[in-house]
Amino acid sequence: MTQHPFTISNAAGIARTLEDVKRLARSASSEIRIGSYTPQRRTGNIGETYYMLTADTIINGVIIPAGTSWNAIGLTNCGIEALADDLHLMAQVAKDVHKPLVVSIAGFSPEDYAEMTRILYLEEEHFLHEQLPMPTLELNLGCPNARHKDGTRHKIISYYPDDTRAVLDAVAIELPPGVTVQVKISPVPDETIPCLAEIIAQSGIVDTVIGVNTIPDQEGLREDGITPALAYRATEDGPLLHKGGMAGTILKQESLRVVRLLGRHLPMDIRTIGCGGIFKPDDVFDQILAGASGVQIGTNDYHHGRKVIGDLMVSMSRTPKGMALLEKMAA
Ligand SMILES: Cc1cc2nc3c(=O)[nH]c(=O)nc-3n(C[C@H](O)[C@H](O)[C@H](O)COP(=O)(O)O)c2cc1C
Repeated sequence: MTQHPFTISNAAGIARTLEDVKRLARSASSEIRIGSYTPQRRTGNIGETYYMLTADTIINGVIIPAGTSWNAIGLTNCGIEALADDLHLMAQVAKDVHKPLVVSIAGFSPEDYAEMTRILYLEEEHFLHEQLPMPTLELNLGCPNARHKDGTRHKIISYYPDDTRAVLDAVAIELPPGVTVQVKISPVPDETIPCLAEIIAQSGIVDTVIGVNTIPDQEGLREDGITPALAYRATEDGPLLHKGGMAGTILKQESLRVVRLLGRHLPMDIRTIGCGGIFKPDDVFDQILAGASGVQIGTNDYHHGRKVIGDLMVSMSRTPKGMALLEKMAA
């Protein structure tokens, strides 16, 4: 069984360009994760597409904790072909700092995922020739924010085990030998997890499962309890929308639930990574107790910038538990 060190990395959605890769190379992130990329270039949704609460706020009689976020960015990205042009430069930057480069892709059908995998690894020979490690592939099966012109959203694949199986089968055909695959899922219900875990294990291509992407279709309010957190359109003349993916502090318990259950149902050689509401050392320690082999940071990184992972490690180093973990990571 491969022994992975514990990792603390950025989550998908934070970095997409060569400049982003260079910034992450200089950060404390264990990996450099870029994307999600889609088959075609996307300009994203228009308007107010991201909001994070900076204070605990009562919404409909419920306290929503500070650090909770909503986003409906809409997968703004240059498209997989344009990425492929820059990929060897990004891989070189990652290699120079000894960090894995992870490319997150998001499609709308098994064929999309297969085609994106094919395009991503077209330059396999070039990578081998330059002795560049092939980027790791992260399959985003949990994206809730890509919408049709009428505002309705695409299906979220990880809620449907048969669709998940179809994507993994399609990707397996196009995957060059030696490339590892990570799968990122939504906060799916408990009863879906055993079946998903079995499908992921049977695919034979996945070594990591990330739990979780955002909670879909959530409408938030700002601290005044009146103004919608989000107000955007999928196209200039489309309807005004307020729903997006909810993440940050409020997602922590969901992430822990999914990580715990995945650990129970996945074979030992597939690791789980916790993603959801990582802000402080205790959030990392709780993920370790749940069985996570690493964590990813989304909202905190997007909101506060790339120093957050370094700052988190400094805070961790002030506790005996954290110091022990950091020493293990360094070793
Ligand atoms: C602004 C923003 C953009 C995101 N974009 C993506 C994306 O492109 N692909 C993806 O897999 N997840 C995306 N996510 C989800 C995060 O990667 C992460 O799964 C989620 O936010 C939970 O982590 P957090 O609680 O630390 O934010 C995005 C999240 C945010 C806040």
